[in-house]
Amino acid sequence: MNEEKLAILDNIKKEAIENHVPILQDVSLELIEVILSIKRPNKILEIGTAVGYSAIKFSKYLEGKDSKIKTIEISKDMYNIAKENVKNMELTEKIEIINEDATKYLETIDEKKEQFDVIFIDAAKGQYLVFLENAIRLAKNGAVIIADNVYFHGRVLSGYNEHRHRTATNRLREYIRIISEDKRLKSTVLNVGDGVAISVVNKEIK
Ligand SMILES: C[S@@+](CC[C@H](N)C(=O)[O-])C[C@H]1O[C@@H](n2cnc3c(N)ncnc32)[C@H](O)[C@@H]1O
Repeated sequence: MNEEKLAILDNIKKEAIENHVPILQDVSLELIEVILSIKRPNKILEIGTAVGYSAIKFSKYLEGKDSKIKTIEISKDMYNIAKENVKNMELTEKIEIINEDATKYLETIDEKKEQFDVIFIDAAKGQYLVFLENAIRLAKNGAVIIADNVYFHGRVLSGYNEHRHRTATNRLREYIRIISEDKRLKSTVLNVGDGVAISVVNKEIK
């Protein structure tokens, strides 16, 4: 990445922080970058684009001429900002942004036509189970599914939570239980940032 692009990316990060857009924390990003540099994915699926910061960061690790990131964002405002950012970074060929509700859009992707090497879940906490089900379906054999914020600001580890957070908290606990018990997944949950769950998919196990 040249100096000009680095300056644009720094500004994307700075503006996101100033505007309280919850982009990936540096420590979580570092961990994911290690995974991506080992995995060298050809196709990445991201659920939760926000301003495009993580997708832009991930694009550095894509391998292959036809490599691509498909990223889904529900908010029109975020989508517009992400589109502009991706354009300014000259990454429109590599990053496809979909302005849809991922819970609905994911169902429209046919796993016989499109599969992914890495799937990054970083959107509505209450929907992680829906995202996981689709992530497993859309994963290539050996793919890595990464979910950020699985501790939900510590709520997942706490015995008491405010009523309004209980559904999402319980669903995240269920997410952790499922990735630990599903025989197709080899998983770990790391105490990095707000909790990062990593699962490797073995599609040969039924
Ligand atoms: C934590 S932010 C994503 C941050 C981004 N991955 C990064 O690190 O730069 C979560 C985003 O998910 C979006 N989102 C929430 N629910 C969604 C859904 N059902 N489908 C698609 N996007 C969703 C929100 O609008 C928000 O922009």
